[in-house]
Amino acid sequence: MDLADLTRELETLRADALAAIAGAPDSATLEALELDVLGKKGRLTTVLRGIGALPPDDRPKVGAVANAVRGAIESALAERGAEVRSTELAARLAAEAVDVTTPGRPVRRGTLHPSIEAMREIAEIFEQFGFVTYESPEIEDDRTNFQMLNIPPDHPARDLWDTLYVDVEGKLLRTHTSPGQIRVMQAERPPIRALLPGRCFRYEAVDASHASEFFQVEGLMIDEGTTMADLKGLLDQFAKAMFGADKRTRFRPGYYPFTEPSVAFDVECLVCGGSGCPACGRSGWMTILGAGMVHPVVLQYGGLDPERYQGFAFGMGPERIKMLKHGITDLRLFLENDLRFLEQFR
Ligand code: DAH
Repeated sequence: MDLADLTRELETLRADALAAIAGAPDSATLEALELDVLGKKGRLTTVLRGIGALPPDDRPKVGAVANAVRGAIESALAERGAEVRSTELAARLAAEAVDVTTPGRPVRRGTLHPSIEAMREIAEIFEQFGFVTYESPEIEDDRTNFQMLNIPPDHPARDLWDTLYVDVEGKLLRTHTSPGQIRVMQAERPPIRALLPGRCFRYEAVDASHASEFFQVEGLMIDEGTTMADLKGLLDQFAKAMFGADKRTRFRPGYYPFTEPSVAFDVECLVCGGSGCPACGRSGWMTILGAGMVHPVVLQYGGLDPERYQGFAFGMGPERIKMLKHGITDLRLFLENDLRFLEQFR
């Protein structure tokens, strides 16, 4: 190979390369071309290997041509590269176009179960009166669930609570949150303002107003000089906060072994406003909870001197509160996990 051969090869290489670059449809093809022509093992290098065989005087001449060829190819690559990249960008932008005016897909949020929600609503109200929430065990001993609440083993009042027992001597599933009163009294010194929300269990035939598993919220206040008027004022405020500031309330005599005197607490019928309708059994009133002054015997079991301390307690069913508030007529809805029901709340 002499100077003329090599120069011709270089010119051919330039012409081929420029034609291929001009016709390259995309940047991947261009990259392949670049490697093929200018790469370490590319065609230009291959041609230049022939330089060594030339007389020394001719070498720089080939070198000059080779540089010109390289320069021409590089600028053609750059130019065509800019073209295909802008075409590719335009295509990509078109393909990935987002219509920012389309309404978004809503994120589905979970909701609290209405029983939990009701307990929180109740707690929020009593917290404003300084009540603090406590926990108490679901598996309780017979003594705390009954005896220390002034319900001895053979007491007929036990019939009020149909009990589920567990396989451990003296243990049962608590039938109400009232044993929490004893536990708070034993753990704290007065003044006590305790709220005890929790799950309760009874051996019940399930129907629209009875479940074998349900919640209660227990309240307990103990101090020196606590009276029934304090209880009445507090519960009246509670009912107004929960059901409406215009709602009238009343006490009716009731009976619970652990309170003396005991009352049922009523709010005026939320459906008819007091004139009497089927929802309130035509009485004009709806009972929302049981309450009373803590029995001296219960104070003693709690380790408190009844001569010095007085207190009141109350217990309510959050599901019942929710049912009254929203006109729900079947307690079983709270246990069935039907989303159509559950999603209606908050
Ligand atoms: N423990 C009662 C029940 O399960 C509810 C109750 C009534 C609780 C009166 C009280 C109370 O603290 O004073 O039916």
